[in-house]
Amino acid sequence: MSTTDSDIHSFAKPEEAHVTHVALDLRADFDAKRLIGTAQLRIERRSDARQIVLDTRDLEIEQITDLSGQKLGFILAPPDPILGRALTVFLPEGNSDIVIHYQTSPTAEALQWLEPSQTAGKKRPYLFSQGQAILTRTWIPTQDSPGIRQTYSARIVVPSDLRAVMSAEQLTPDGKPVEDGRTFEFRLTNPIPPYLIAIAVGDISFRSKGPRTGVYAEGPVVGTAANEFEDLEKMVSAAEALMGPYQWGRYDVLVLPPSFPFGGMENPRLTFATPTVLAGDRSLVSLVAHELAHSWSGNLVTNATWSDFWLNEGVTTYVESRIMEALYGRDRAAMLDVLNRTELMNEIARVGGSSAADTILHIDLKGRNPDDGATTIPYNKGAALLKLIEQTVGRQSFDAWFKGYLDRHAFQSITTAMFLADLRGNLIRDPELEKKLRLDEWIYKPGLPDNALTPASDALARVEQAAKTFAGGAKASTIATKNWTTQEWQHFLESLPKTLTPEQLADLDKTFGLSKRGNSEVLFDWLRIAIRNHYEPAMPALEHFLTSQGRRKFLRPLYEDLMAADWGKPLAKKIYAEARPLYHAVSTGTLDQIVR
Ligand code: BES
Ligand code: ZN
Repeated sequence: MSTTDSDIHSFAKPEEAHVTHVALDLRADFDAKRLIGTAQLRIERRSDARQIVLDTRDLEIEQITDLSGQKLGFILAPPDPILGRALTVFLPEGNSDIVIHYQTSPTAEALQWLEPSQTAGKKRPYLFSQGQAILTRTWIPTQDSPGIRQTYSARIVVPSDLRAVMSAEQLTPDGKPVEDGRTFEFRLTNPIPPYLIAIAVGDISFRSKGPRTGVYAEGPVVGTAANEFEDLEKMVSAAEALMGPYQWGRYDVLVLPPSFPFGGMENPRLTFATPTVLAGDRSLVSLVAHELAHSWSGNLVTNATWSDFWLNEGVTTYVESRIMEALYGRDRAAMLDVLNRTELMNEIARVGGSSAADTILHIDLKGRNPDDGATTIPYNKGAALLKLIEQTVGRQSFDAWFKGYLDRHAFQSITTAMFLADLRGNLIRDPELEKKLRLDEWIYKPGLPDNALTPASDALARVEQAAKTFAGGAKASTIATKNWTTQEWQHFLESLPKTLTPEQLADLDKTFGLSKRGNSEVLFDWLRIAIRNHYEPAMPALEHFLTSQGRRKFLRPLYEDLMAADWGKPLAKKIYAEARPLYHAVSTGTLDQIVR
């Protein structure tokens, strides 16, 4: 560990003893909905340390032994509602590994066990994990802190017609037959924070996209996915030009079943992605640029605690925009920047306005679930800060510093203070510059500082004009939408007045076929308008959208908007009752607070 700031979301005492390697030997039991087996932990400890404290939640610990099978004593503390249970293991003399015999609970929050009906193929079940922020402890007993980096290996036994993939090198791509199944072996030799250990098991196919890139998905989806991510190999090269060599070997994308609760998750070597990114026209691939960027900002240089989350997401959102610019030009990147600014201003309002504590980049999470800090503020305010620095010092100097920053902290977990020290030591040395940037205000004070740059896009300025004209009474058919991109549609919908007449709503829907859109982002923006204005004809489309995918970013606002209306409340409850079993625990954890 490279920080002295302690992580309040882990029970570990790494200064006494810490885990350096996790070796899993697990069987996926789809009937019991459990992973069953052992985790062998390699430990480094102070010479006087006689115990190690691990993080667990909802794990059934059967026994703990040393390598010779000798039983070790342990204490499982009473559960904390957010953090789970500390597991203290008494260590034998000498520096040897410990072996934890355990099984996961069927309700482990990191794991979703899908019925065949919840998959694309409809024939075989599916399992996937989601570790970030503090869910890995619900499937692996280890020190679950982003500041405690660990290498890992795994041997996973699954039913013989399924395939296992992980965020690691595949040692047996096709598996090996064993008694009652097939076994898959993995190894990751780069030390990572445990939230990046990930697994998926299902009827998964693969399509190569280039020498070191490819796409995994269920059979019926893999062709579409391979087509959507046509530029995958080019994207890795563009990212390397900006940030230095890709250090993880392969870069593949796994498209998950629709219940995946996030847009994407940057699991090393294997980004997990929602199928709602498959627009058919490659218009939402900035999501892959984002997850790929995390291979540097996040996975190579990691936030040491969840209060430093903006270091992962803000830096990555900035890089995402740079990759999009490099591949598709300034105009496309500028549109995304404008959309992000709209999202930021809306989010600041949602969390309580520009003096609200949750608008602070270095966020206070005492007594809270780190998930509470996962708003879009660390993403978009963080990216705005980096953009300001870049524009102030010039791109050339900025890029040179940025490469150096990634290099100086590669495979380390760093705090916000360490980021600032690096920035001040290597880029912002001039006191005049420091005064101009107001770094401390950006990082430790709420709201968006008034020296933030305002992103601008000519295309979106025209779209705003069109929205005004329509609001002023023009017919939808008079708007020249012929070559609009997804981003232009999004901005058009987001620029319309909050209140529209039933005639205007019907005109928009009929002219532009909005309720029938397959593009998830455009449909989402339209459905919010439909709810806000109680536009009945869009309700079947809303119900379908809410029951056919489980991405929290889409679900939360739609349910919130419904619950805010007298007419919407019963509808929200009805749809939620039907859809809830389909959603991942990450999404129901949020939605249970809203729909009740
Ligand atoms: N690392 C995040 C997802 C995440 C954040 C999971 C916090 C758990 C806790 C990932 O990189 C991400 O930001 N995903 C976004 C998409 C991205 C294009 C902004 C998402 O899922 O919406
Ligand atoms: Zn991210």
